[in-house]
Amino acid sequence: MTPAGRLDARLAPVLAQRRADGLWRACRALAPAPAGTVRLGDRRVVSFCSNDYLGLAGEPRLAAAAAEELARSGTGSGSAHLIAGHREVHERLEQALAAWLGYERALLFSTGYMANLGVINALAEPGAAIFQDRLNHASLLDGGWLSRGRMHRYPHADTAALASALAEAPAEPPALLVTDGLFSMDGDLAPLPVLARLAQAHGATLLVDDAHGLGVLGPGGRGSVAAAGLDAAQVPVYVGTLGKALGSFGAFVAGSATLIDFLVQRARTFIYTTAPPPALAAATLAAVAICRGEPGRRRHLHRLVAQFRTGAAALGLPVMPSDAPIQPLRVGEATLALELSARLLEAGFLVTAIRPPTVPPGTARLRITLSAAHTETQVADLLAQLDRLVPRSLRGVPADADVG
Ligand SMILES: Cc1ncc(COP(=O)(O)O)c(C=O)c1O
Repeated sequence: MTPAGRLDARLAPVLAQRRADGLWRACRALAPAPAGTVRLGDRRVVSFCSNDYLGLAGEPRLAAAAAEELARSGTGSGSAHLIAGHREVHERLEQALAAWLGYERALLFSTGYMANLGVINALAEPGAAIFQDRLNHASLLDGGWLSRGRMHRYPHADTAALASALAEAPAEPPALLVTDGLFSMDGDLAPLPVLARLAQAHGATLLVDDAHGLGVLGPGGRGSVAAAGLDAAQVPVYVGTLGKALGSFGAFVAGSATLIDFLVQRARTFIYTTAPPPALAAATLAAVAICRGEPGRRRHLHRLVAQFRTGAAALGLPVMPSDAPIQPLRVGEATLALELSARLLEAGFLVTAIRPPTVPPGTARLRITLSAAHTETQVADLLAQLDRLVPRSLRGVPADADVG
């Protein structure tokens, strides 16, 4: 057998098992279409699984800003930020993000995944305790596991368990407390005020990854930290991503000038990678301006969230507690989640099944996400299909049922 044949022979049974377990993953090639929809082959379907919460990814003003910068700068940045890749437009974007969020400075990273690996590895001193919510995003967990710190995962949002673990941790080196702001697969908020108090009491540094809160939650769309009434003093390390509500691509860390200078020296995923294309930074600048200046998009989005929740409660659908645009519908078995997703697609709705290992075993779900690009009719149509397809065995008592 050739080396390539041997490799395939080793991998094939793993794949066969994944398929048998209903855990097979594959990409779908979609084509763009207007207003919350995508084209899949020759069909147009309504997408209820994108993180484009404000509908900015298809906004012409972002495309125009990118096109203008593309004509000026070309496609690639050409090198890492510290070599020759950092352009004026990157600098302007960093300043705009910092000013918007009330931090001294911000530092761009090429993706949120890289931002999280970079910042955790830079901040965790050897042997430092790193406390992470059990449901934190994979990039935060990987950041901790790849670091020289010691990982402690506390049960989801269990601040009592966290408080006892923090009390047992050594004061030196300082601990890092890491959390999603808005949990990406559950749609609930981290108990940020309590986490901030615990971090303060135990001398730990609080890092909030607000990938899903930025642009959507809080006053002016400033995210989950602002929504919790906290600021740069209590949350010294704020990670935001640009590929979700901001409709663009990339990520940033916001913090004090000292933190940013430190990351420039130490964050390997900032130092050793090509800077994002300048045209993307121009598009993101346009997105920040829209996000700050046009609250109507957020208002429409939150109206859709309320419409969906009221409708789902009336139907007794197993939606998880969330007031955010992430509205997961808990199904349980991976195979059932896949089947429901396939039947929704037949009916013209793209809703991806989220299965283990992305979520814990037995908690497979349909992760329904709402966007300002959707219409009330699209949400009503989705609810009608869910009513038709979700089996009675998964349904609770409808909210308006006449009990008694
Ligand atoms: C909470 C959270 N953090 C980080 C990321 C990674 O960001 P990016 O897609 O920019 O790598 C994601 C999702 O992609 C996420 O949901």
